[in-house]
Amino acid sequence: MPPPDLDLTRIPTHVACVMDGNGRWATRQGLKRTDGHAAGEEALFDTVEGALDLGIGWLTVYAFSTENWRRPADEVRYLMQFNERLLLERRDELNEAGVRVRFIGRKGWRVPKRVQGHIDDTEAMTAHNRRMTLTFAFNYGGRAEIVDAVRALVTEGTPAEKITEKAIRTRLYAPDMPDPDLVVRTSGEYRISNFLLWEMAYSELIFTETLWPDFRRENLFEAVREFQRRDRRYGGVDQ
Ligand code: IPE
Ligand code: IPE
Ligand code: MG
Repeated sequence: MPPPDLDLTRIPTHVACVMDGNGRWATRQGLKRTDGHAAGEEALFDTVEGALDLGIGWLTVYAFSTENWRRPADEVRYLMQFNERLLLERRDELNEAGVRVRFIGRKGWRVPKRVQGHIDDTEAMTAHNRRMTLTFAFNYGGRAEIVDAVRALVTEGTPAEKITEKAIRTRLYAPDMPDPDLVVRTSGEYRISNFLLWEMAYSELIFTETLWPDFRRENLFEAVREFQRRDRRYGGVDQ
């Protein structure tokens, strides 16, 4: 049940999370970094349930960045297999809950073919769902996304005067996805790390010290509470 003090008429349409701090969470308990990623699964699914409770229509989570390939090969391999397993084990329950699962990121670049196959299957399997869209930013970089959009425009032979914000917007990885209203980053890092650069131009940003494996729906509710105290002006003035 959503907390009674939240205004259900002012729930953000789209919430995006930078799920950060798994490695530190594990190290602090004398565990391996990869155990921290494993512990992040419960955080993610509790957050998904909380988002469903609130009626949030779009939830986007940063799962693997284009820069995360720089990590040790073992950790990269673990993350690929972990995301693949998570998808296979959880897609039925997501589907039954009415969740459309989607991925944004560079397709066909470095991601193993088998993993990409499961991604495509899961998207197809859940494509009809409308209760919530859960988007995994996977092999995702905000700069790569803008580069890919510009490449598409050039490939299409778009003349300079036709290069507008809308032209770029419609060539992003998920053109129908509304911009995030709220972006939450865990683990006390105050940066964006190449997440949704184009889309978060006017997002409200919330940074929390909580490490991702400790994040639960109550933390999401708290972020929404803080969001509801903000005054969004989009460059204008309050009337
Ligand atoms: C976030 O946790 C998960 C991914 C980037 C895949 P980290 O692995 O970055 O954890 P820290 O930031 O090192 O603690
Ligand atoms: C951002 O976290 C990427 C994901 C959460 C997937 P990082 O841990 O990779 O970011 P930096 O390196 O601290 O900026
Ligand atoms: Mg990190």
